Amino acid sequence: MRCAVLIALGVAVVSARNRRLTSLGSIFFEGMYTEKPQEVASTVESSSSRYGVDKSFPMHHPARSGIEKNNLYNEFIDGCREFYAPDGHLCDITEEERIEMNLNQPAGMVNYTEVGFAKIRAPDDLVEVLTRFWTTNYRSPKNIPIETWARGSTYTNHWSAPTKMLQMEALRGGGEALRTKVWDISKDILESWTGVELSPSSLYGVRVYTEGAVLAPHVDRNPLVISAIVNVAQDVDEDWPLEVIAHDGNAHNLTLEPGEMILYESHSVIHGRPFPLRGRYYANVFIHFEPLGHGLKKEQTHAKVDLSILYQQAWEKQQSKCSQDNDDDCKLQIDLNMEEVKIPPYILPGSEEGKRWLQAHSHATLTKNTNERAKKVTDKLDANFAASAGDLELLKQIVKADPKSLHRVDKNGWSPLTEAARSGHQDVIEWLLQEGANINQRTHKGNGGSPLWWAKKFRGSKHKIVAYMEEHGALEIPPKGHTRIKP
Ligand SMILES: *[C@@H]1O[C@H](CO)[C@@H](O)[C@H](O)[C@H]1NC(C)=O
Ligand SMILES: *[C@@H]1O[C@H](CO)[C@@H](O)[C@H](O)[C@H]1NC(C)=O
Repeated sequence: MRCAVLIALGVAVVSARNRRLTSLGSIFFEGMYTEKPQEVASTVESSSSRYGVDKSFPMHHPARSGIEKNNLYNEFIDGCREFYAPDGHLCDITEEERIEMNLNQPAGMVNYTEVGFAKIRAPDDLVEVLTRFWTTNYRSPKNIPIETWARGSTYTNHWSAPTKMLQMEALRGGGEALRTKVWDISKDILESWTGVELSPSSLYGVRVYTEGAVLAPHVDRNPLVISAIVNVAQDVDEDWPLEVIAHDGNAHNLTLEPGEMILYESHSVIHGRPFPLRGRYYANVFIHFEPLGHGLKKEQTHAKVDLSILYQQAWEKQQSKCSQDNDDDCKLQIDLNMEEVKIPPYILPGSEEGKRWLQAHSHATLTKNTNERAKKVTDKLDANFAASAGDLELLKQIVKADPKSLHRVDKNGWSPLTEAARSGHQDVIEWLLQEGANINQRTHKGNGGSPLWWAKKFRGSKHKIVAYMEEHGALEIPPKGHTRIKP
């Protein structure tokens, strides 16, 4: 799956790249370093078992011995299918994506801390503003609007335990002032924890889980990379742990009292609440950031690995792998990846995730003709890459140099035409058809979707590319085991 939809509707995504780096001299910052190592250590020690994934809930595999017998999970997934009937298959598609991301995304990510999480006391001023917001707006869970989830979403069991959302914009004591305050404070903490400069990427309001709630273990979609959870209020009969799978592969239960805070690398650390909530409610706020790419000053990072070194290492590793496989295309691709195309600093260049990111971001085009080497290697470049990026001129050059590349498919059976369809580039498809590309070639050794199916899946049935393809004889053939996309 190469999907990039947001997990929940109603997520506020902001872009504040030019936000000023606030001073790191505040009091809680001083406290953090003395406090953090013990906190982390104590959390690690207190976890009773050293199990990893797939024990409490399916994480890497949909169902395995042990989990198959997990009635909780069966109930969970059946509940979704019934709720969304007759579109119950949407639940299975989300599950597939959730598990695929758990399995593959962490490996392509830069890790900023050793274990990937830490638990601390939230600074007083943060607790104060959040508590004030909560007490001003909370009367009973009934009065809080229900949060809307995408159809078939399996991230929470909202069909049996609806989640509620106190949105910051709309409410008394909320608005931009509160958001800015929450962001500024947590940014300082997370920057000191990770050692890199961060930019806010998303701030939900306060989510209120209700009795019986389960949060399926998942990794966040980029750019929700470095995150914090603050327990704002709770009325529970027993602790409701956040289970994380740390960088060391072990599961850890983290419980929070109101006013406590978990810092975690949400793009690489699988996290969820797979044990149903016992109590009336649990209210927390999620604060998400994206790294800006360069480390803070050395003395502040406590000798954290320099990212550019990490980059270089990943690149060399991939280089030597390409050399072993004697794969020139691979070498050139990662060279270009490194030098010509900007991918976000938290994704390892040359990783599967890096390639996926490039495919999903058509604006990540090559700086053409400025670089000698780029010109020289044009004929070796991947036609799929050019088609996906919508770079018709580059695609023409590639096909001119290597006519077979027009029909060549990658290891998942994706042709340039499928890539162009998925990315919605009509001019590219038009040209490919003129040159004799097959508009109905299915992916995955002929068992996957046709280009039209993928176009609908990624662009929606109403996208103009869909009408265009249908006019040109495209058939919608779903992958084996999947159904057609709803109009
Ligand atoms: C976490 O808590 C749950 C429920 O209390 C328990 O079943 C599980 O074994 C715990 N996991 C760890 C790693 O301690
Ligand atoms: C980062 O941590 C994840 C697990 O959280 C692991 O799969 C991955 O290999 C690590 N990345 C690096 C570059 O060490």
